[in-house]
This record gives sequence, C-alpha cells and structure tokens, in this order.
Amino acid sequence: MTKPVFTPSREWSEDAHVNSLPQYKLIYRKSKDSPESFWTGIAGRMEWIKKWDEVKEEDFVNGKIRWFKNGKLNVSANCLDRHVAEGNGGKTALIWEGNNPEEDQSFTYSELLTEVQKCANVLKGIGIQKGDRVCMYMQMVPQLPISMLACARIGAVHSVVFGAFSADALRDRINDSECKLLITQDTGVRGTKQNIPMKINADKAVAETPSIEHVLVVKRTGETIKMQSDRDSWWHEKMDTADAVCAPEPMDSEDPLFILYTSGSTGKPKGVLHTTGGYLVYAAYTHQIIFDYHEDDIYWCTADIGWITGHSYIVYGPLANCAVSVMFEGVPNYPDFGRFWDVVDKHKVTLFYTAPTALRALMKEGNEPVTSRDLSSLRLLGTVGEPIKEPEWNWYCNIVGKGNCPIVDTWWQTETGGILITPLPGATPLKPGSATFPFFGIEPVLMTEDGHEIEGNDVSGLLAIKHSWPGQMRTIYGDHDRFIETYFSQFPGYYFTGDGARRDDEGYYYITGRVDDVLNVSGHRIGTAEVEGGIGKADGVAEAAVVGFPHDIKGQGIYAFVTPMTGVDGNETLAEKIRQSVIADIGPHVKPDKIQFTPALPKTRSGKIMRRILRKIAEGDVDDLGDISTLADPSVVESLVKERV
Ligand code: WTA
Repeated sequence: MTKPVFTPSREWSEDAHVNSLPQYKLIYRKSKDSPESFWTGIAGRMEWIKKWDEVKEEDFVNGKIRWFKNGKLNVSANCLDRHVAEGNGGKTALIWEGNNPEEDQSFTYSELLTEVQKCANVLKGIGIQKGDRVCMYMQMVPQLPISMLACARIGAVHSVVFGAFSADALRDRINDSECKLLITQDTGVRGTKQNIPMKINADKAVAETPSIEHVLVVKRTGETIKMQSDRDSWWHEKMDTADAVCAPEPMDSEDPLFILYTSGSTGKPKGVLHTTGGYLVYAAYTHQIIFDYHEDDIYWCTADIGWITGHSYIVYGPLANCAVSVMFEGVPNYPDFGRFWDVVDKHKVTLFYTAPTALRALMKEGNEPVTSRDLSSLRLLGTVGEPIKEPEWNWYCNIVGKGNCPIVDTWWQTETGGILITPLPGATPLKPGSATFPFFGIEPVLMTEDGHEIEGNDVSGLLAIKHSWPGQMRTIYGDHDRFIETYFSQFPGYYFTGDGARRDDEGYYYITGRVDDVLNVSGHRIGTAEVEGGIGKADGVAEAAVVGFPHDIKGQGIYAFVTPMTGVDGNETLAEKIRQSVIADIGPHVKPDKIQFTPALPKTRSGKIMRRILRKIAEGDVDDLGDISTLADPSVVESLVKERV
C-alpha cells in the first residue's frame, strides 16, 4: 500500500482556492449530484452577451454534446476587453522569452488587445469571415497567440500546426479543413537551430493546397526568403496600417473555436474540434483551481502552443483569468541545462508547468544547474503529457521544489480540452506517479474489455468517463462518424479515453498509458500507423510495423520492423532513406530510434500483424512471447529475436 509522501503545509493550504480534502470532496459531490447548477455558477464568471437557456445536452450514442446552449459570448473579449474594462489594462498579460536569452518582450492586457484588434482587421482585410478556417504554422512567437485571439475575435476557426511538422504533414492538415489563410514566419529559432525553414516548408505545402488564398508571413529572423507577390504579405506591413479597433463578433456557445490535429490509431490525423463557451469556461476554471492561480502569480507553462496544452494553458485559460502567462520560444538545454531555471529566476515565476520528458533530460545532468539558480519564487509545480515515474517526481519535488511545492500531475487529452484527473494543490495528499482524483464534474470509471464497470479500489482497467464536461471535444472535423466510432462505440454510453489506469486501495488513479496504437514520444502523441505510412514511402520498403519501447529520456522510443522489397538489402543506406522519408512525411520528432530489417513480419493466418509479439521483442522481453501458435509461420519469431537491435 503506497502512502502519500507529500501534504501541503498549513500556510500553503490556507490561501488556496480549495484548501482541504474534505472541501474537495464536498465540492466534488455537489458537482456530480447537480452538474447543471454547478456549471451554471462557474460559467457565470465569464461575460456573456446573452445567457444560455440550457446548461447541457449529452447524447453519447450520437456523439451530440452541447454546453450553455444558445448562449452568446466572444472568447477574445473575455480574455482581453473584460480585463481592460475592469481596470487591468496595465497588467502584464504575456511575457515572451526568446530562444536567445537576451531576447524578451512583454505585453500588457491593453497592448495585447490592441495587437489582437489590429490583427483581426488584417484578417478581415484579407477576406477572412466568421467560420473560415485559418492555419498557423509557426514557432513560439508572440504573433501566434495574437493571431489565435484575432481569429476568436472575428469568429474564424484556427488550426495551429506544430512547427516541427513537415511540409507534407502541413499540406494534409490544411487540406483536411480547407483553410483559406496560412500564417507562418520567415525562419524559426530553437536551441542551436537558428534557421528552421518555416516559409520554405509553407511554400512547399501551399503548392498543393487549393483552398489557401493568402499567406501572411511574420518576420522573426530577417533571413532572406521568397515572397510570392500575388499571395504573400508581411505581417508587420499589414499590421502597421491596420485599424486598432475591431468589435468582437458575438459567437454562439457552440460555434467552433478551433481545430487541432492529433494522432489516432489510423494513419489519418483527427481534426479535434472544440467550441466556444464550454471550452473557455473549462480551460479558465481548471487553470484557476488546479494551479491555484492568484492575482499576483507569474505562471509559466513550457509546452508548445502547437499542442493542446499550449492552447488551454498558455493562451485561453490564463488569459481568461487575467493571469501573467510566460511563453518560451527555446528549449531546456540552450544555451545550457540551466535555462528553465534562469527563466524562472528572471521572471520570478511562481507556478511552473512542464513535461516529465523534460524533467528526465534535466535530471540526467545533475543538480548543479538547478541549485546554482535562485528558484525561491516557485510555489507550485505541474506535469502533463505522460506518466511521471517516481525518480523524476522525487527530483522535481525535492531539488526543484525544495520540498515546499506541491506537484500537480495532470491527466488529460487533446480531446478533453482541459485537465480531468489531477491533485488540487492545497487539498490533495500526493503520491508520486499518481494523477490522484477526478476534477470537479468528472466521473472516471474503469471498464473491463467487455464493457463492465469495475467497482471498488485496488483495481485496473480501461479508463472511460461517464458524463460530459464543458471542455469535451464536439466532433472530428468533417467526420462525425469517426468521432462516434473512436470514442463512444467501445463502451456505449461512455467516453472512452484510449488509456489504461489503476485505482489503488485509497482510490488514487495511476494512468498506465495508451491501450491503442498511439505512442507517447517525448510527450508528443504519435500514431504508429502514421509512422508506418512514412516508412512505406521510402524506396525499397515492402512493409513496416512500428511499436514503442521504453526509452530513458523520451518515455517511449520508436522501434520499426521493416521488410525490404525482394532484392533490396536491409542495410544502413536503406535505414537512412527510411529516416529521411519519415522526416519528410511527418517531421523530425517522429524519426525511428531503432530499425530492424526482417524478411517477414509475424502474422496470423488471416494476415494480421501480431503487434503484441513485436512489442515484446522491442521491449527486450523475449523469454515469454506468449502464444505464437496462431502465427502463419512461427519460425519468423526466432529470427526476429535473434536479430533484435
Ligand atoms: C497521456 C496532452 C499519464 C495519456 C494533454 C493521454 C498522461 C495522452 C498524462 C494525451 C498524465 C497525458 N499521466 N499520462 N498526467 N497526461 N497523458 O492529446 O496517454 O497530446 O491519453 O494531450 O497523453 O495526449 P495529448
């Protein structure tokens, strides 16, 4: 029986929004017993142009989810105008910390509002209207959140594509949602890379995206790039002449706010669609309660805005709460392994939210980069994206937090819009590796394979959620059937997460990882089928199967089993071709760590690849491969084990 190892001090809890376990339990019970009145109270904190007339509609059979029906509001007005009107215009909204330590910039709420209004007018001038899709393909530059908020202001739907994706991956995402405008930058800087070819990639993509009418280019580095005069324009030129007033568009609570592509178990990424009212209410409320955000906090989430964590917890949640949000263009090890801690010291960060993979990489470098910096401003730490193991949890708690900061291990997904399972820092006694208990309004259940709820404690199962919450995704863009099929068909009446979990003897949840063909590599969510597709495009490859294996830093590494075409040698030349093909098809963040050539893959008689066996081989667990009698040719396994890399 694991006992909690950390309980917040009395002083810490006293000022917290939720300050004891009994208080958590009380509010949780209310949120569960009367969700309508609970969420009415929370949503009322936002500024609505027209109040909703029904709190929620929840039909998991048809995947029909609605929150705050017929309410009208504008997300950018709630994130900016509201605070300025309340006298907070002079408060810092965004601190941008550049990749190179001498570069930073900050925006007050008034300044950010002006930039957003100008950008909104630029978008309108280009012909962007309510409902149009706008794609952003950028690194972590301030123009990214500005353009997201500008879209929200005029009712355009943004689709941010993570800046490491390749031209082909960008093209496919643009085409899937038929974006009209692409916003990008000349080149990007990240760590020692001082010239990431963003515009070159964008040009390549846009050559095959008939829907794109215009490309807006932010000058980040000043590197010479080609502009196509009838299609491209410079961000700064348009902004210079744009009017600084643009009234926010009244949006329906269920109007789309954004699309964000994520990986599933097929090769085609899913365009996760989030809408306006519920998403904003949920992002803001979770940000306030889980990070225990107070007025004078300086909050820093190290995620990239190209992923959901950046959307909800760099941009929308913090800004809706009138917080100071730090955004960071760089990487933890540039110019050295103390960079995170330099930034914490420089901006006196109080709330710090990062990923276990970063902690593992930093922990490996020893304590000196941490202990040589002044981290006394920190009062809370958070993690997200993958399970955190005990060694890095203890290091985070004791070396970074000096034993004084609660750690919120937050479990959630692109699909959930915000955090669902998490400690509340002033209330929850912590156990390393456990995301602890459900947030208000969330009812997690563990299911058996055949769809029965597993009751009681000290049990494991498949993690599903019983009722809707405001931040839940509403559909997969352009493919509602896939939405129903992916999330609601495995366990009718429940939202299925794709994760497995354990509930310990005290009811603490431990997320054990994906149970589908999705990998989690350095906190990036990657579909094995996508990687296989990229490998398959390399000349000389007949077939490939990709599985994960435990990796010290990345959490999971990518192990590819590849069958070359007859007459082609499985040698280093082919391996390099494969790596390049994956980089071109998806991006460098999904390059296989290991490639094993094999004349054949283990298949059943009906031709299905037995991934279970491949997973065991990749993990090095070759003594007990389980039942291999159903294989068409069991001898394949022996050579796979022998040739393991
Ligand atoms: C995993 C990221 C364990 C999980 C916000 C989930 C986690 C997937 C945790 C979603 C955590 C996220 N502990 N596992 N605290 N947080 N995961 O969509 O497998 O990029 O299903 O969203 O990350 O990844 P996504």
